[in-house]
Amino acid sequence: MSMETTAWMQLHSVMTAQQERRPFDRATLRRIAAFARPHRAGIIRFVLLGVVTALLAVATPVLAGHVVDAIVSGHDTGTVVRLSLLIALVAVVEAALGVLGRRLSATLGEGLILDLRTAVFDHVQRMPVAFFTRTRTGALVSRLNNDVIGAQRAFAGTLSGVVSNLVTLVLTLAVMLTLSWQITLLALVLLPVFVVPARRMGGRMARMQREAAALNADMGTRMTERFSAPGATLIKLFGRPEEESAEFTARAARVRDIGVRTATAQSVFMTALTLVSSLALALVYGLGGWFALRGTLAAGAVVSLALLLTRLYAPLTALAGARVEVMSALVSFERVFEVLDLLPLIEEKPDAREVPEGPVAVEFEDVRFAYPAADQVSLASLEEVAVLDSRGGAEVLHGISFRAEPGQTVALVGSSGAGKSTIAQLLPRLYDVDEGAVRIGGVDVRDLTAGSLRATLGMVTQDGHLFHDTVRANLLLARPAATDEELWEALGRARLDEVVRSLPDGLDTVVGERGYRLSGGERQRMTIARLLLARQRVVILDEATAHLDNTSEAAVQEALAEALEGRTAVVIAHRLSTVRAADQILVVEAGQIVEHGTHEELLAADGRYAELHRTQFTAVATP
Ligand SMILES: Nc1ncnc2c1ncn2[C@@H]1O[C@H](COP(=O)(O)OP(=O)(O)O)[C@@H](O)[C@H]1O
Ligand SMILES: [Mg+2]
Repeated sequence: MSMETTAWMQLHSVMTAQQERRPFDRATLRRIAAFARPHRAGIIRFVLLGVVTALLAVATPVLAGHVVDAIVSGHDTGTVVRLSLLIALVAVVEAALGVLGRRLSATLGEGLILDLRTAVFDHVQRMPVAFFTRTRTGALVSRLNNDVIGAQRAFAGTLSGVVSNLVTLVLTLAVMLTLSWQITLLALVLLPVFVVPARRMGGRMARMQREAAALNADMGTRMTERFSAPGATLIKLFGRPEEESAEFTARAARVRDIGVRTATAQSVFMTALTLVSSLALALVYGLGGWFALRGTLAAGAVVSLALLLTRLYAPLTALAGARVEVMSALVSFERVFEVLDLLPLIEEKPDAREVPEGPVAVEFEDVRFAYPAADQVSLASLEEVAVLDSRGGAEVLHGISFRAEPGQTVALVGSSGAGKSTIAQLLPRLYDVDEGAVRIGGVDVRDLTAGSLRATLGMVTQDGHLFHDTVRANLLLARPAATDEELWEALGRARLDEVVRSLPDGLDTVVGERGYRLSGGERQRMTIARLLLARQRVVILDEATAHLDNTSEAAVQEALAEALEGRTAVVIAHRLSTVRAADQILVVEAGQIVEHGTHEELLAADGRYAELHRTQFTAVATP
C-alpha cells in the first residue's frame, strides 16, 4: 500500500469519527474488556501478526540497501540474485499475512458485532410496553445497527491502528537510527511541519463531513416523508409542487456546495502531504549522498533510509488520529451500553411461581395506578428529545377492587377514557400496579412466571396486530403445535374461514404491514381465532368486536360465548348483548368503580348504568 493511500485512509477515519472530548470512563473500559474477553485468543494472534508484519515491512528496505552495496562493491551476481529472491519471498509472505490479518480482524469485529447485537436485542425485548410506546422505532433500530457497527469498527480500527502502527514506527525508527542518526533526526524535524497541519485539517474536514451528513439526512428525511403513501396523498391534496421543488433544490444545492468544499480541502491536504514527504526524501538523498561521498555512509544505507522514510509517515499520521478513534469507539460503546442499562421495569422474580391448576379467580384489590414517567422507561436520545419528562402521569386508577370467581364473566362498562383498558393491561403485566394488587388464582401477578402468565391469560385488544408474515405463522403464535385442521377450525369459529380461503395462497398468504391488507374487522377476527386456538383459562376482551358489523358480530359473539364457556373472563364491551350475559357488571368512571351488580339490579338502581343503557347501548342492541 502506498504511503498516500494509507495516510488517506487514516485521515478518512479521523474525519468520519465523532470528535468528542471526554475523559476515559473506567467503567466503560471495563465493560468493553468484558465484551472482548471471549475473543482473547483472537486478539493475541492479531497482535502477534501485527508484529511479524511490521518486521517484514522493515526487512525490504534493508535488503534493498544490501543489494545496492553488493552492486557498488562489485560482489558476484549470486549475492544480488539471492538478495532479490529474498525480497520476493518477503513480498509473498507479506501478502499472505495481509490476507490473514484482514480475515482475523474481520472475525474479531464481526464476532463483537454479534455479541453486542444479541445483547441489545435480548435486552430490548424485555423492556416494558411503556418503553415501546415512547421510543421512536427508527432511533432504536439505528442504535441496534449503526452504533453497534460503530463500536466494532472503532474497536478493530483501534486495535489494528494503534498496535501495528506503534510496532512499525518503533522498528522503522530503530533501524533508521542505526543507519544514520543525523539523517533520522533531521527527517523527524520535518515531522511537525507535516503532522500539525494534518491534525488541524483533519478537524476541519471532520466538521465538514458532519455537516454534510446532517444535510444528507435532512434531505433523506424529507424524501421519505414526502414519498410515503400518506405523505404523497397529503401533497396531492394540499401541496404546492413548485414550492416543494424549490425547497428541495435549495437543500440539494447545500449538499453540492459542501461536497465541493470537502473535495477542495481534501486535495489541498493530499498535495501538502505529498510535498512534505517529497521534501524529506530530497533531504535524505542530498544529505545521505554527501555522507556517502565523504565515505561516512554506505550507498546502500542511503537507499534503505529513503525507503524507510516513506514508511515512517503513515504510522505517524495514524497514531496522531488514534486518540480521536479511541474516543469515538468509547462513544459508540457508551451509546450501546446506555440501552443495555435501561432497567426493565417489569421482570420475573427469581422465585416466581406458576399459576395454580384448574379454574382460577381474578382479583383486583384496591389498585392504584399511574402511567410511568418518560424518564423511568426511556432514553432521551431514543425519543429524539433533549430531556425526558420526569413528571409521572396523573393517577389513572384510584382504588379499583373487584373479584371474578372462577368461570365468571365480569363486564366493564363506562365512558371512553374511564380506565377500562388500563385495568385490562394490568392483568398480563403490560404495566405493574403502583399500589394494591392484581391476583390470578390467588397469586399476585408479580409473583408469577412470565411463561405461566402467558399460558393462563388470553387477550383480544381493540386493534389486533398482525406480523408481516403468513396467516399460518400469525395463528401459530398462539399455539405453535397446532395442526392445519385446528387452524381451520379456529378460523371457522371466528367466521374468517371464507376470507382466508379466498386469499391468493390461503393459509400461506402473507398479511400485515406490507402484505395482504385485512380490514379492521378481519384483523380482529384473526385475533379472536388466535384466542380460540390458545384456549387460555382466563380471557380478556377489550372491545374485541368493535370493528365488526352487526351481522358478523352476532356470529363472532357466538364463537366468543363458546370461548368464554367455563373460563374466567374480563370483558370490556360496548354492546348490550355481551354485557347482559355477564355475571357481574362494573361501571367504571374516572378511574373508579361507581356501580356494580347484574344487569337487572343496575337497571333497577337507575343510576349511571341505566343512563349508559339508554344512551350508548340501545342504538345498536335492538335488533
Ligand atoms: N400509554 C399511556 N400513557 C399515559 N396515559 C395513558 C396511556 N394510555 C391511556 N392513558 C390515559 O389513561 C386514561 C384511561 O385510559 P383507558 O384505560 O385507555 O380508557 P378506556 O379504555 O376506558 O377508554 C385516559 O385518561 C388516557 O388518557
Ligand atoms: Mg379502551
